[in-house]
Amino acid sequence: MSLAGLWDSLLPLGRHEGTGGYRRYSFTEADSACRDWFMKTAAERNLRPRCDRNGNLWAWWDCPGSPPAAPGTSGRPVAGATTPGQGAIVTGSHLDSVPDGGAFDGPLGVVSAFAAIDKLRGLGFVPARPIAVAAFCEEEGARFGLACLGSRLLTGALTPPAARELTDGTGVSLAEAMTAAGLDPAAIGPDDELLRGIAAFVELHIEQGSALDGLGAAVGIAEGIWPHGRWRLDFTGRADHAGTTRIPDRRDPMLPYAATVLAARQAAAGHGALATFGKVRAEPGGANGICSAVHAWLDARAPDEAALDRMVARIEAAARTAAGDHGVRLSIRRESFTPLVQFDRTLRDRLAGALASAGITAPVLATGAGHDAGVLAARIPAAMLFVRNPSGVSHSPAEHAAMADCASGVAALTAVLADLAGR
Ligand code: GLV
Ligand code: MN
Ligand code: MN
Repeated sequence: MSLAGLWDSLLPLGRHEGTGGYRRYSFTEADSACRDWFMKTAAERNLRPRCDRNGNLWAWWDCPGSPPAAPGTSGRPVAGATTPGQGAIVTGSHLDSVPDGGAFDGPLGVVSAFAAIDKLRGLGFVPARPIAVAAFCEEEGARFGLACLGSRLLTGALTPPAARELTDGTGVSLAEAMTAAGLDPAAIGPDDELLRGIAAFVELHIEQGSALDGLGAAVGIAEGIWPHGRWRLDFTGRADHAGTTRIPDRRDPMLPYAATVLAARQAAAGHGALATFGKVRAEPGGANGICSAVHAWLDARAPDEAALDRMVARIEAAARTAAGDHGVRLSIRRESFTPLVQFDRTLRDRLAGALASAGITAPVLATGAGHDAGVLAARIPAAMLFVRNPSGVSHSPAEHAAMADCASGVAALTAVLADLAGR
């Protein structure tokens, strides 16, 4: 099937008719449709489909003459020359989305992975080591609040008890959601055997910025990922009547929340960093009432951890001062953190070499966006390819990449897989 055909087969799943955005939240109907699509796409290609203990999906192109890649093979890093029989080369990304996300963030990496395998087969390529396509579970953290949930569990960056206790916005726990989806939450956790069977992971992703467009390149290589995290702020005040409560009598949690949003913007500008409140809940949420509580989530990112720490400390201090000024209680809790990621230099250079040999110019870029590749990088050599996004818009229905650039991404990924998994 052509790249466009493959792309079109996934496009309708989980798209909201009203907004045109995607609502592919883990373990929902839309997610299950995407999972079925993955399994069917794998089966159509005679790839061995698997769902691991953490809900991540795998499609294995087993290698003749070498044992199946997972479980049970021993992998070795792809540092120098590759040798037949060593660990697998895995590519892929994720299929879940943020609320009203774009079509490309995640799915482009999965679709491109299948398309690259089609291309390799069309070229008569015989792999010297297994190749797999992976789709990691809950990369966006849109349902359970923790980004890269599946890859964190796989690598041990998140403990199973902590994961099982995560709840969605309606109070459903991860354990309950997994059970309802037919998975066993008691089985989640690190999978060293699976990881040992992987020599390298290469994730292709739409660029979530417009640097490639500025450089006139269709494809880029990731250098690293900014450290980033999410903090939950709970402002608790007192519910009261909007029409009768005198200003001095109010304990309105909306006011310190508003001051904190403005302080975050200032702190970010002062640290060359980014701070965003994209999710907020006012309780009980009546238009004619002072709310009793405001729950808000801060997403903070910076080029280095010291700058991130300083910025978040400044935002926290501003929030505490504002809460005190308005007689409001405040609690702050860090919900997730991803340290600075510098992708494996040897693997990165290897990608650059493979692309150069294929006549593809690929600038090297850092990014502020989080990815499963960044989590996996703590355990195995990982790398990323980016595909041009002319507007730079992402996490929005307006996110877009031209099909011609997506085809260039597939060509780049094909060259990389042929190099890493070839004889
Ligand atoms: C994922 O796209 C993130 O950066 O939060
Ligand atoms: Mn995303
Ligand atoms: Mn993504």
